[in-house]
Amino acid sequence: MKITNDILYIGVNDHQVDLFEGQYRVPNGMAYNSYVIMDEKIAVLDTVDRGFDAEWLENLSKVLEGRKPDYLVIHHMEPDHAGNIARFMEVYPEAVIVSNAKAFAMMDNFFPGQLSGERLIVDNGSSLSLGKHSLCFVTAPMVHWPEVMVSYEPTEKVLFSADAFGKFGALDAEEPWDDEARRYYIGIVGKYGVQATSLLKKAAELDIQIICATHGPILREDLSHYVQKYLTWASYAVEDEGIVIAYTSIYGNTKKAVELLAEKLRQKGSTVVVHDLARCDLAQAVADAFRYSKLVLATTTYTGEIFPHMRNYIEHLTERNYQNRTVAFMENGSWAPRAAKVMGDMLAKSKNLSFCDNSVRILSALNADSTAQLEALAAEL
Ligand code: FEO
Repeated sequence: MKITNDILYIGVNDHQVDLFEGQYRVPNGMAYNSYVIMDEKIAVLDTVDRGFDAEWLENLSKVLEGRKPDYLVIHHMEPDHAGNIARFMEVYPEAVIVSNAKAFAMMDNFFPGQLSGERLIVDNGSSLSLGKHSLCFVTAPMVHWPEVMVSYEPTEKVLFSADAFGKFGALDAEEPWDDEARRYYIGIVGKYGVQATSLLKKAAELDIQIICATHGPILREDLSHYVQKYLTWASYAVEDEGIVIAYTSIYGNTKKAVELLAEKLRQKGSTVVVHDLARCDLAQAVADAFRYSKLVLATTTYTGEIFPHMRNYIEHLTERNYQNRTVAFMENGSWAPRAAKVMGDMLAKSKNLSFCDNSVRILSALNADSTAQLEALAAEL
């Protein structure tokens, strides 16, 4: 695939992966993107997951048309992009590996004693001339590992953005960008909003016409849409007005209360998204909490604490710096309900959360009292 006349795509689609990074469901697979810049010097930008070495090297060989690459540029050392560095160097031992000092330290840990070729260490502000084209390197620590850098090619105005602006899904899957990019960003980079904002500030100084991420499609049109989404996500701002109800239920009584609340909220015209945390895609439930303005957490008291799926969910939120939202609690307990207190304590250190005055306490099953509480909560929300 041609990105421009001289910048070519040599990545692969992975439809075998069940859990990306060992935890994220990817029903439409995953793309590991890699690019080649053809000029007086040839640069290969990143490799792909180790399981796709043969396909990737064949893609590379086709575009080289008998020439040999001069540089292998490594923007990020995570194995979905760096898995084939040693394999590449076996085939092209004269190529120079270009990366930063932190990445080279990781490289020696991932490939102990396997890399003997020449290295070129670059840093923030360094550039690499290829002839007509050049690459200007910008460090992007924690988007998504500490060694990450992006590069900008000024002749064609292309940003090679590493994981930033990536999404779940192979390139042959037809699906909207926003939902799978949000689930990817919140899940994988969500904790590092400050660092992502800093990268966006640096990128704002560049004239960018094309964004080439290491996952997902090449972005060429309406770039402001993608940048605006990233600015929203990185700043933890509300993306859409709406209410997420995340719940667990053991015998169905909490579920019944959640369904009643959802119905009342929808009758009032609210957008409502409901997730059963024992059965749903956790990453989707997490991404929705960051997307919408309000969150209702409904769970049972369990071993004096809360049901494990709810604990896990709240930990996923807090470790991604969940903030700037409105939160409400519903608890169920047959003899000593305390789930609302436990959930409140778990969120106590989160920034800028407002907690609803109304909460719902269910004593085993909804009764007149708890139904009235539920109605009051619906009105407040
Ligand atoms: Fe796609 Fe952080 O690797």
